[in-house]
Amino acid sequence: MPPSPHFSKGLDDVIVGKSQISYVGGETGELVFRGFDVRDLVPGVPYESVVHLLLHGGPPDSDPSPEVLRALGAARDVPASLERLVDALPPALPPLEALRTILSSLGDGSYEYPPTLEQGFRLIARAPVLLARHVRRSQGLAPVPPRPELSHAANYLWMLSGQEPLPARVRALEGYFDLLADHGMNASTFALCVAISTQTDLVSAATAAFGTLKGPVHGGAPARVIEMLDAIGREELAEAWIRERLARRQVLFGFGHRAYKTEDPRGLILHGLAPTVAAPERLALAEGVERTALRALREARPGARLYTNVEYYSAVVLEGIGLPPELFTPTFALARTAGWTAHAIEQAADNRLMRPDVEYVGPAPGRKWPRPLRRGGP
Ligand code: ACO
Repeated sequence: MPPSPHFSKGLDDVIVGKSQISYVGGETGELVFRGFDVRDLVPGVPYESVVHLLLHGGPPDSDPSPEVLRALGAARDVPASLERLVDALPPALPPLEALRTILSSLGDGSYEYPPTLEQGFRLIARAPVLLARHVRRSQGLAPVPPRPELSHAANYLWMLSGQEPLPARVRALEGYFDLLADHGMNASTFALCVAISTQTDLVSAATAAFGTLKGPVHGGAPARVIEMLDAIGREELAEAWIRERLARRQVLFGFGHRAYKTEDPRGLILHGLAPTVAAPERLALAEGVERTALRALREARPGARLYTNVEYYSAVVLEGIGLPPELFTPTFALARTAGWTAHAIEQAADNRLMRPDVEYVGPAPGRKWPRPLRRGGP
């Protein structure tokens, strides 16, 4: 077999297409949505307007985008058949597993290729409605009906708790949703684009994307940040805990990134948002552990350019908002349904089946089967 001319393990530095949606400046620490630096958008721009920007290519005429607010509010009214499907899930099924089935259950035959804005609004609006329904059922609580007039972030908190959400929590979640709405050709968006390239429907592609996002080194990291903070407990115990983990060649969740070789801008913004919702002592512990971790990582992996990633302060902010760790990754996915929709529509507009190759390094051809073959006869 001739050696492969192009080979990149993990697809590092491989360009799989062109996109107008978001730019990730891995060396400069930039994240840009359709020309807007996220540092100029968050906090302040409502999630509905970020969805508008990602899906329409430009900002709405007013904030929050009236069109997106209306579309998401209307789509929250889910058919009873979908509610029954979600109610058939085992109540103890963790939200991470439930959301994969919920996304798949949205595929009732009405999502056909090519993906459309209207399909996207249904995906973005209904996933949190059904997830909140399952979470309440797993707590033995009755579902809370959605409110079409509420913002996306406020309605999610309302449906989870059945209580009027605190404005500071809504603002922090809105900032989180904004920042996590898209991120270039990350692993889950790539999975979505591969699926769409086969001309499958948006819901099937989003299910593939979510299955990819939930892995611990992608979107599954934030709950493990909380586990780490809980295990460390006090700042003065961080050094020993971290060094012991690094000595066993285990990763520290919330640090390192394939694209960013400098500060992740989302992490910096979330760190700035954290004091608005997090308990001061929890934030102080997180900051202390972060300092120790960065120092230890630089010593243990010299030259690796490891920085705090988005998941670290995501965990602190989501915890401060009152969400349990098992909802962190599902909440990340809810934010990302906007970016997935934008990428699905973009992929379909100029589509080509994605079909890479592998370099075959197995035995050379020409091996013979060790027994006589049964061909024909009785
Ligand atoms: N803790 C300890 N060591 C690390 C970490 C970490 N968090 N991140 C990278 N390293 C090590 C790698 O093992 C590698 O060491 P080696 O050369 O001895 O094998 C070295 O640093 C260089 O790693 P990179 O090539 O820069 O990392 P890569 O691009 O392969 O991985 C990844 C990126 C998977 C995110 C990794 O940093 C990691 O596992 N982080 C922890 C999990 C995490 O927080 N994931 C969330 C990422 S953000 C997101 O996806 C939304």
